[in-house]
Amino acid sequence: MSSAELWSGGQYELVAARFAEIHDALVESLAPRAGERWLDVATGTGEVALRAARAGADVTGLDIAPRLLEQARSKSSAIEWVEGDAQALPFADGAFDVVSSSFGLIFAPDQEIVAEEVARVCHGRLGLTVWRPNEGPHAIYTAFSGEQPAWPSPDDWGREERLRELLGDAFELELQERVWWLEGDSPEDVWELMSNGAPPVRALLDSLEPDRGAQFRAAMLEYWSQFETAEGVREPRRYLLVLGWRR
Ligand SMILES: C[S@@+](CC[C@H](N)C(=O)[O-])C[C@H]1O[C@@H](n2cnc3c(N)ncnc32)[C@H](O)[C@@H]1O
Repeated sequence: MSSAELWSGGQYELVAARFAEIHDALVESLAPRAGERWLDVATGTGEVALRAARAGADVTGLDIAPRLLEQARSKSSAIEWVEGDAQALPFADGAFDVVSSSFGLIFAPDQEIVAEEVARVCHGRLGLTVWRPNEGPHAIYTAFSGEQPAWPSPDDWGREERLRELLGDAFELELQERVWWLEGDSPEDVWELMSNGAPPVRALLDSLEPDRGAQFRAAMLEYWSQFETAEGVREPRRYLLVLGWRR
């Protein structure tokens, strides 16, 4: 399955809505200025791009998944929406004052090329959010996908050493560790959210025979039951807010 197909599956917008506080923090940290050129890489449903545009920036949002871009496009005609691959950005060198990517470019398979592309088109500030490694129920995904853990893995971006290896030559970096809470009324509620709203989880579930799918669901419910509180499930997921200044 291609990345475009994978990310067009399910209803990612359900999860995107839960990231609102992260999108706010990322845009606020990048302090948009009126008229500056801003690229949001792997924009998905466009939430970061929309915030930057509301703050006055001249924004382009790029994503590989047509279904998500369609949703983004329906939200604003002031932003230029581009279907494309983060590994081959269709923009001139130094075209942007700001480049952002919220849990986005980490999913492109060739990490070195993506890092080079971002540095090539950015002549100013960079802002990323990246998950810390081994967060969440990755061991369960791996067990049910029947594959070895992916290498390179999106989680690599959440290791400080790897992040500096990829971006440190081109950018002066500042890293802030933060926590996002995955919440739901019950483990079943969280399963509904993630099995519909997280396209990689959806794709894994769809690839399993019904019995195996039921076992996957049961394993995930058991996993989330350890995070149950009186207010429902609250699972902490650590991530880095990465800020960079082009050297
Ligand atoms: C977890 S979503 C994040 C979307 C958005 N940035 C947000 O914060 O809501 C990951 C996004 O990366 C996009 N993506 C994955 N691989 C990509 C690639 N090689 N080039 C561009 N976009 C990609 C997917 O289509 C999806 O929209």
